[in-house]
Amino acid sequence: MKKFLALLLTGVMVLSLAACGGKKEEAPAETPAETPVEAPAEGGGTIGVCIYKFDDAFMTTYRNALQEILEGKGYTVTVVDGNNDQAKQNEQINTFITQGVDALIINPVMTSAAATIIDTVKSANIPTVLINREPTADEMAAYDKLVYVGADASQSGTMQGELILDTANKGDINGDGKVSYIMIQGDPENIDAQLRTEYSVKALTDAGVEVEQLNLTRGDWDREKGQTICANDLAQFGDQIEVVFCNNDDMAIGALQSIQSAGRKVNEDIYLVGVDALDAALNEVQAGNMTGTVLNDAKGQASQAVECMEGLLAGDTYAAGEQSVYVDYVKVTPDNVAEFMK
Ligand code: GAL
Repeated sequence: MKKFLALLLTGVMVLSLAACGGKKEEAPAETPAETPVEAPAEGGGTIGVCIYKFDDAFMTTYRNALQEILEGKGYTVTVVDGNNDQAKQNEQINTFITQGVDALIINPVMTSAAATIIDTVKSANIPTVLINREPTADEMAAYDKLVYVGADASQSGTMQGELILDTANKGDINGDGKVSYIMIQGDPENIDAQLRTEYSVKALTDAGVEVEQLNLTRGDWDREKGQTICANDLAQFGDQIEVVFCNNDDMAIGALQSIQSAGRKVNEDIYLVGVDALDAALNEVQAGNMTGTVLNDAKGQASQAVECMEGLLAGDTYAAGEQSVYVDYVKVTPDNVAEFMK
């Protein structure tokens, strides 16, 4: 496990050297066009962290990792809960700015609010790292002291599809020549939900597998919604369902409860995949109750975000089109699940 962690960290570090290196600030011109960012006081600075909502399983792991890394480095950190309310988060950002934080790390509530958020932090000249909900490259290009740290959601979708392709019957449990699935989607406003939905199925069709979508329902990343949606779909489609694709693990854990209540058995008469590699999902993968999941590396992304933030504080700037830094997803199956368990 230690070796795995060391490898993972090395991977992150290598990536960060390549990925997190914004341009170093040039020697100041005679008349600087902008006020330079004030260097934080010796022994750390003050950092504001905005999370879209605390009541999200993956973002809980992520924010805890962020807080631990930042505090470990001597920063004074305040982490606030946006309660899934963009207006509230806008106020929180403004409060942080008024308080004079040295840098911000923001997990936007609405991806569609990114342009406004960027405008606000730019006007205040605060170095900012956006996380988890990726805006467009054009929106980010408005401010060169801004970077996005996340993961390429299409990669996780592809890996979910591969988990199904790797099963003995490539997902076609009833042998009728097509894979019939339900899709339990996250919040569709979020690019992670859009791309995972698209690419999980694309991996199957790219491999020449015929697919049939029985239903697609938004579950907003939420365990209880995952459970209800899956229960309804099982009641409606019964044995026709061969694969349950969930955009994240929390919804998959909910779906598993309904699968078990319906007397179905994962990996025998139905397949189930998620994303995130939450501890609960790792346990289910190991027990054979989930076909697999995909590691969404919260700790890796948190350390990358902090590294990028420190680069910005040291004067790094980012060119348009080079403002997204990705940490790789990793496929998790019963064969390698032990490596991810604490
Ligand atoms: C995704 C993650 C979900 C949820 C979402 C919030 O990357 O897989 O579980 O946390 O972010 O935006």
